Order: sequence, then structure tokens, then C-alpha cells
Amino acid sequence: MLAGDLTLANAAEKRASADPRSIERGRELFLREWVPKDRRSHGGDGLGPVYNDRSCLGCHHQGPTGGGGGSAGVNIELISPVPAGGLSPGAPVFSYAFSFNYGPEGFEYRFGDPSGGNVLNGGRRPRAAGPNVGELVRIHPGFREAPTIVLHRYGNDPDYRVWRDWVLGPHGNLSVRVTQRNPTPLFGLGLIDAIPDAAIEAVARRRHPGGSKVNGRVSRLSDGRIGRFGWKAQTATLRDFVISAAAVEMGLEVPGKAQAADPRVPPLKAPGLDMTLAECDDLAAFVHALPRPGLVPPGRAREESTRKAGRQLFRSTGCAECHLQRLGDLEGIYSDLLLHAMAPELADASLYGALLAEEKPAARVIPADGPGRSPRTASTDEWRTPPLWGLRDSSPYLHDGRAANLDEAIRMHGGEAESSAARYRRLSSREQALLQSFLISLAAPDVPGLH
Ligand code: HEC
Ligand code: HEC
Repeated sequence: MLAGDLTLANAAEKRASADPRSIERGRELFLREWVPKDRRSHGGDGLGPVYNDRSCLGCHHQGPTGGGGGSAGVNIELISPVPAGGLSPGAPVFSYAFSFNYGPEGFEYRFGDPSGGNVLNGGRRPRAAGPNVGELVRIHPGFREAPTIVLHRYGNDPDYRVWRDWVLGPHGNLSVRVTQRNPTPLFGLGLIDAIPDAAIEAVARRRHPGGSKVNGRVSRLSDGRIGRFGWKAQTATLRDFVISAAAVEMGLEVPGKAQAADPRVPPLKAPGLDMTLAECDDLAAFVHALPRPGLVPPGRAREESTRKAGRQLFRSTGCAECHLQRLGDLEGIYSDLLLHAMAPELADASLYGALLAEEKPAARVIPADGPGRSPRTASTDEWRTPPLWGLRDSSPYLHDGRAANLDEAIRMHGGEAESSAARYRRLSSREQALLQSFLISLAAPDVPGLH
């Protein structure tokens, strides 16, 4: 049996226990297209000043409402400063260690390895002097706060586009490198929210058979909570993610999270709230209640045996070392929710989410842990194992949607997953097709009336 009937029952129970009117109001908020100076706002300024889309649905629409983005066109863009010429993925980046110093004047981060080994390109190029924060802030004030930040697609002010193009251009010795994030489907996230921390910690303690490079770790936020949402496991709870999506993606002022600011002007305080606390609760309740991904309904006996053989190959190829079929009581998730170091080609230019996670710093100084390494949250080459449920309806794949199909996504695995990917490559094409047919049987929920 693939999907746990028990879990389905739990999900149904949970949905039933949430106030259906709250979920219904949340649905309206999820679908709502915001406009600048929106009259539905509560004294706020509505959409913007900068934003990535007008509605949650704009990026979460593949299949039924709440799905993934469906194309790389809706990806979020993140930027990091790199030495000029270091624009292509895999090109040299600053040997990048940083320290946070939460002094009275805020904090600072420094380029360069404090041990003095500030070497670019494996030593083949001369040592580059890192830029200072002043130079970075002239490009984008957000670099004062983090080495990787969201570059919003749109601004309410028509000149924003011109400025945005300028940011993406050259800046003397510096350029910015763009990395992207593929919108994930939101089905079943309420169940992921409910997985006990202990279950995730237990998986991280697992010993893999000798010789295995698989070594996942928990993403630990500075307040001690476990990060489990987002490609970098940078967020602890579903509610936190929903609220910050409203603030960051649409520029909505919400309780506890300021709207994304126009980087060209000093941050202006929003005139009021765009969504009230009660509305945030409704929106979170709607996302929480989205059904879990299902399975393609059982087919004829022949299809069933194909699927079974594919699942067997999924296990024997080592996929299930990270893509665990069951986590805690949650059957069919196909993830351990842990961070794994993947192929260097998949790495970001700089740390992302590290600082977001340090919003309430436990320590005044958080030591650098080597270039591109973060002591607790994800390093540049680390990604959270994505749950594979719903895979049939969530292409393109990987954190930036670079894989158009499953075969590509699997072949791009490396790092801790290298030996598993190598085993996949050695399978016959018939076996590869079998494995894929199993993955394709993991489908988005097919819920009438959800569209
Ligand atoms: C511009 C596109 C865009 C918009 C608009 C958008 N999202 Fe997302 N969403 C994304 C991307 C990209 C990710 C993956 C981000 C990451 O992991 O860093 C994501 C991830 C999420 C996740 C976490 C999923 C997981 O599996 O861990 C939640 C929850 C979420 N979005 C909810 C919302 C809600 C609610 C709204 C509306 C308030 C919204 N999003 C609006 C693009 C968008
Ligand atoms: C070491 C842990 C690990 C192993 C082993 C592993 N994966 Fe993954 N898998 C990941 C991580 C981490 C990602 C996300 C990487 C990224 O987005 O850059 C991923 C992504 C994927 C995706 C894309 C999912 C999506 O929503 O975009 C698919 C499909 C996938 N893996 C299938 C497999 C298969 C099939 C195997 C076995 C051949 C396998 N994986 C082995 C960790 C692993």
C-alpha cells in the first residue's frame, strides 16, 4: 500500500476541525488579485511598492489551486554580489565567509575568509580584495542585511524597471549573480507542519551503511526551531511561511512582518495593515487544509506491477535514503526534510536564508564556518530533500526548475546523492522508465471543486 489510509483520515479530521468559514475566507485571500492602494486593505497601501506577483495563485496554480508554478517564468529571482565575470553558475565566487555582529549600529558581514585564505578560483587567479559593505549597498541596500536577497520583479513606480535592469548590469569590479527559486506545490503542507521535531531529528541521527556519503542534517534556526519549509529549509512553520510570502511576494503589510520595501528610497513605514491578523489566520488555515497529494488511481494489473517494480528500483538505487517514504507518521511524503550537500553545479552563489533565520540572534557574533558554509542553516550547496509526492503535476523540477523532466532532475543529482545518481545512470533504459513510471504515479490531489 502506498498512501497511508490512516494519514488520509488524519488529514480529513484536521480539515474538519478547522473552521470551514475561516478556510473559505482564506481561499478568497489566496485567490485575490491585489492592486496598489487596494480598497480591501486595512489602511495599508495594497500591492507593492515592490512585488513578484499580484496573488498567491499567480505562482501556485499548477493543477488544482495551490500547486507549483508550472514554468520557470514565475520563478523568484535572488541576487548575490560576485566578482565581475563571475556570472555563470559554477564560476568563481568570493571566498566568502562572513560574521554577523549585532552591535548597536546593526550588524555587518565581511567578505573574505578570516583565516586569510581569501583565494579565488582555487588559487588560479590572484587574490581578490573583497568589496566593503558601502560598495554593496550602493548596488542594493538589501546587501546590508544579507548576502543573498530577493530582487523583486515589479514596482508600482514605472521607473523601477529601469533601476532593476541597472542592478543586473556591471558595477565595476562587481556584478550580481541571479539564482532562482521554483514555486513549490502547497498540497499536504499542513501534514508536514504536524510532523514532530523528534521524527526529523531521529532521521538525522541515522547511520547509513558503510561507504554511503549520505549525511543529512537538520536545519536549525537561531531560536532553536527546526527549519522544514522552503528549498533551503529556512522556515520553521507553515504559518511563518504564509505570512512572509504575503509580505515578500506581494508587498503586503501584515502583523509581525513588514512589506517588502522599495530599495531605491529610504524605507517608508506602511500607512497601515494590508491584512489583519485574522485574515492572516484565514489564509494560513486555507493553506493548512489543502489536501495531501494522492496517487494516480490504481490501474490495470499490468500498470500496478510496473509501478511496483519501479518502486523497488527507487529503493535499490538508493533514492529512498533521502526520499523517505515515511517520516514520523506521515506515509508517502518521500522526504527526510533534511539538508544535503548536492552537486556543486546546483549551488547558490552565496548564503540565503541564513540571516532570515537569525532574525532573533541568540548570540551577538555568529562565527563564519568557512566559505559558503553556514553553521546551522543551509550552506550554498545544501538543499532540503523535496517531498516527491505530487511529482506528476509539479514540473519543472529542482530548486530553480532547471530540470524539465524527471530524468534530467535525477541525472543532475550529485554530492551526497552521487552514488545513487550513478546507479540510476547504470540502469537499463527499461529500468529507468520503470523507476520514472513509479514517480509519475505520485500525483497532485484530484479534488472536485478545488480549481
Ligand atoms: C512570485 C511567486 C510567488 C508568489 C506570488 C507566492 N509564492 Fe509561495 N512560493 C514561491 C516560491 C518560489 C517558493 C519556494 C521558495 C523557497 O523555498 O525559498 C514558494 C514557497 C511557498 C511555501 C513553502 C512551500 C514548501 O514546500 O516548503 C508556502 C507555504 C507558500 N509559498 C505560500 C504562499 C502563499 C500563501 C502566497 C500568497 C500570500 C504565496 N506563496 C505567494 C513563489 C511564490
Ligand atoms: C543525498 C540525498 C538524495 C538522494 C540519495 C536522492 N535525492 Fe533526489 N533530491 C535531493 C535533494 C536535496 C533535491 C533538491 C535538489 C535541488 O533542488 O537542487 C532532490 C530533488 C529530486 C527531484 C526533484 C523534485 C522536485 O520537486 O523538483 C527528484 C525527482 C528526485 N530528487 C528524485 C530522486 C531519485 C529518483 C533518486 C534516486 C535515483 C534521488 N532523488 C536520490 C536529495 C536526494
